[in-house]
Amino acid sequence: MRIVEIEKVDFEESFEKSLRPANLDEYIGQEQIKKNLKVFIKAAKKRDETLDHLLFFGPPGLGKTTLANIIANEMNANLKTISAPMLEKSGDLAAILTNLEDGDILFIDEIHRLKASIEEVLYSSMEDFRLDIVIGSGPAAQTIKLDIEKFTLIGATTRAGMLSNPLRDRFGISFRLNFYTQEELSLIIKLASNKLNTKIEKEASFEIAKRSRGTPRIALRLLKRVRDFAEVEETHISHNLAKYALDELGINEHGFDELDIRFLTLLADAKKPLGLSTIAAALSEDEDTIEEVIEPFLIANGYIEKTPKGRIATRKSYEILRFQPQGLF
Ligand SMILES: Nc1ncnc2c1ncn2[C@@H]1O[C@H](COP(=O)(O)OP(=O)(O)OP(=O)(O)O)[C@@H](O)[C@H]1O
Ligand SMILES: [Mg+2]
Repeated sequence: MRIVEIEKVDFEESFEKSLRPANLDEYIGQEQIKKNLKVFIKAAKKRDETLDHLLFFGPPGLGKTTLANIIANEMNANLKTISAPMLEKSGDLAAILTNLEDGDILFIDEIHRLKASIEEVLYSSMEDFRLDIVIGSGPAAQTIKLDIEKFTLIGATTRAGMLSNPLRDRFGISFRLNFYTQEELSLIIKLASNKLNTKIEKEASFEIAKRSRGTPRIALRLLKRVRDFAEVEETHISHNLAKYALDELGINEHGFDELDIRFLTLLADAKKPLGLSTIAAALSEDEDTIEEVIEPFLIANGYIEKTPKGRIATRKSYEILRFQPQGLF
């Protein structure tokens, strides 16, 4: 199983949730976002108003859902969570909206996957807290206007570019989440180890952080696996044990796993720019996984570049591949 996956396995999800920070001060990194959020939350509370609608975007596992939960906590508001693909018709969303209470927070995950007809229901709800319901069709069609309670919509997406303009414009605030530094990740690992009552050496937390693709979710998963090795060996997580376990898991020192290496090798061997569909076919992965999960980290760290003609490997990745032991994967 690939450790870097879009789909979350259930028990891993509950492990993650148990380690989820409950307030902004426990939330590590993303300093600019936290600073802004603190101001907005304070101002909204002072005026006794709801927060403006918020959009969070960025690669999977960087803490979008966590932020939505924290905001609800900090606002003392109820949080209702739905995933966009779960909504089949506009009536599904209308039912949710009419059931909201004053000040509730509605979290729509994967908001770029809302169907156009359902998205339209959101426009007037977000703007005027009003539902426009069309009954019937043709010349006899009637629009009924229904007031709904004031709420805050929080949208999360890994693909901000796929959001329609009218929807994007209706978010008062939008934040891009960035990859985390090694220092931030090692702190997340340290705090998680404390919660799990697991002793970990500082160098070990850095070792895991280094191989986590800048992503808290991956850091926590690696910690969990490394902890298994420590338990079997009946020891704490020492630097050596972390290195050994991570090597055994096939995560190299750059945080690349097997798929990253195959991806980079493909680009390097091609010696010309490759298009998304060619890459997807060669790796037997779907295009979304490549664009949402694999590429953002590689681009952010300068391992690949997107040119108008396609993706190319950079000098940095050629260097790494040169030192990659042959036949490891
Ligand atoms: N800033 C942070 N500080 C501490 N822990 C964090 C932070 N961000 C994320 N985490 C941890 O990582 C886990 C994954 O984060 P989360 O589920 O919020 O990611 P996401 O951006 O919603 O991902 P997806 O796009 O896949 O839905 C959380 O459950 C939490 O335990
Ligand atoms: Mg999420």
